[in-house]
Amino acid sequence: MCGIVGYIGAQQAAPLLLEGLARLEHRGYDSAGVAVLGTGLKTSKRAGRVRDLGEQLPKRFTGRAGIGHTRWATHGPANDVNAHPHTDGKGEVAIVHNGIFDNASALRARLADDGVDLVSDTDSEVLAHLVARSEAPTLEGKVADALSAIEGTYGVAVLHADFPGRIVVARNGSPLIIGVGEKEMHVASDLAALVRYTTTVAHLEDGEMATVTATGFTTFRQDLSTTDRRATTLDIDPAAYEAGVHESFMRKEILEQPDSARAMLRGRLDERFGSAHLGGLNLDARELRAIRRVKILGCGSAYYVGEMGASLIEELARVPADAEPASEFRYRNPIIEPDTLYVAVSQSGETVDTLLAVQEVRRKGGRVVGLVNVVGSAIARECDGGIYLHAGPEVAVASTKALTNMFLGFALVALQLGRVRDLSIADGRRLIGGLERLPAQIGEVLAVEEELREVAHRLAAAESLFFVGRVRGFPVAREGAQKFKEVSYRHAEAYPTSELKHGPLALIEESVPTVAVVPDDELTDRNVAALHEIAARRGPLVVVTHPGVDLGDVAATRIDVPRNERELDPILLTIPLQLLAYHAAEHLGLDIDKPRNLAKSVTVE
Ligand code: F6R
Repeated sequence: MCGIVGYIGAQQAAPLLLEGLARLEHRGYDSAGVAVLGTGLKTSKRAGRVRDLGEQLPKRFTGRAGIGHTRWATHGPANDVNAHPHTDGKGEVAIVHNGIFDNASALRARLADDGVDLVSDTDSEVLAHLVARSEAPTLEGKVADALSAIEGTYGVAVLHADFPGRIVVARNGSPLIIGVGEKEMHVASDLAALVRYTTTVAHLEDGEMATVTATGFTTFRQDLSTTDRRATTLDIDPAAYEAGVHESFMRKEILEQPDSARAMLRGRLDERFGSAHLGGLNLDARELRAIRRVKILGCGSAYYVGEMGASLIEELARVPADAEPASEFRYRNPIIEPDTLYVAVSQSGETVDTLLAVQEVRRKGGRVVGLVNVVGSAIARECDGGIYLHAGPEVAVASTKALTNMFLGFALVALQLGRVRDLSIADGRRLIGGLERLPAQIGEVLAVEEELREVAHRLAAAESLFFVGRVRGFPVAREGAQKFKEVSYRHAEAYPTSELKHGPLALIEESVPTVAVVPDDELTDRNVAALHEIAARRGPLVVVTHPGVDLGDVAATRIDVPRNERELDPILLTIPLQLLAYHAAEHLGLDIDKPRNLAKSVTVE
């Protein structure tokens, strides 16, 4: 979704802002713009790519302070005028904004009544006019004044021609990070835009503002009382934000999975007691034992892996568990039970639907723990406890390695919950053995990429596909269909295999392939029977299964994945589906890391 960058220092700002914006492209956007402050304030913005913006910048677009933005349209269409930065009527103030101003219509009406000419359809533009109209003597005071009239969420950065040498930024619900360089400072909504220049950063808290100059920053609240935010140096490898030798981030992140899975498990397996060490949950054995139900909340792929997690928890801990789209949860006035453990799952930790679901649970006195990848993100901070996923930065819009680590997170939670109940130490150790084997087995699946590439090319030729599976295999099919549709733009529909004959079988024909998830488990025979029904209607079949599973005389392309413990099979069955989606999209020549209409972090409802 929208991205913010800012720079102030000895260099020309524009090239650095463009570079920063390019690094935010993966978040999804439809227009981009920059403003620089040199001799006067200059702004350039347009619908389209950052590259197009770079080409339109005039030669003398100079200034050593600047702000930039990538916009994801919410109020008004994606066009040049609605792109950020927005300015006041005189062109003295420039602002960029992430988030949504909820009372924008009222503010627009008030400004219009006062004779202000609003040129865009956006909620954000009001901020530029409010800053310009404030009578406070300092830029900090003007921005604070303006924000006090605004209700909603924001990360903002503001430049003012009368106050050169500073950028004022503020945060309320939308991330804002300050990066400390050598006699220069950076601002961004996402670490990805900064790490090339510095890993010494300060994350603003909600309600906090900052003045950023070339030599440092100071932080304060909206009433201008100071706060004591310090920068810390993060232990991150800037190379993790580069695709390096890989043709795309998605492929890089798929291939990283054996390593990222190891990082997730490191230090968390308790061989001795056949359990997991998860201190971050902040739950002792008695509290774990008192849990009667688990409710998992996430969106998109995080919801599908939540369904896998719910099965794991039910199987290992025998506690009723289910997953629900966080985007729906709070709208049905959910009953929050004191003995239910709520689990929020999110890669970015910024997905607003998941964040609002967490807040709904907490408002009603429930206990929420998080499975989150981005350290210090809004969801991680909002939860009562949780575990980080340690997947490293995930840049491609389509989630792969973070999703795998979410599954592992659920396995660890299920182990710990199970071991304070009826899961035997022997079964606990059996699962630990399975978890220890998983990273290498993921590597074995990745090693057959070439074969999968050829299968993917065939699937890419279909306009429409089914992904089917049963019980443990159904969330795998859902995630497979999700990945396939989001990067290849093919219609991919997931169904429980058992439901095919209740309707969708009518669609099966030669041009509609089915990818079937058929693990070696108690349902294999029934799954194979359904494959016969598909084959009888000449539906092409790709079957993701285990070595030795007898598919009878069904004509099918077979993809074998290594066996693990049955409870852990879903994640190994998911890996080839990532590669099928990736290679289908690559074959179709699509922009894999930035699928159309999608954003990496969905920070608006
Ligand atoms: C699919 C995908 C999305 C995200 C969803 C939640 O590949 O990436 O469906 O899973 O938008 O995002 P997070 O996990 O950041 O909350």
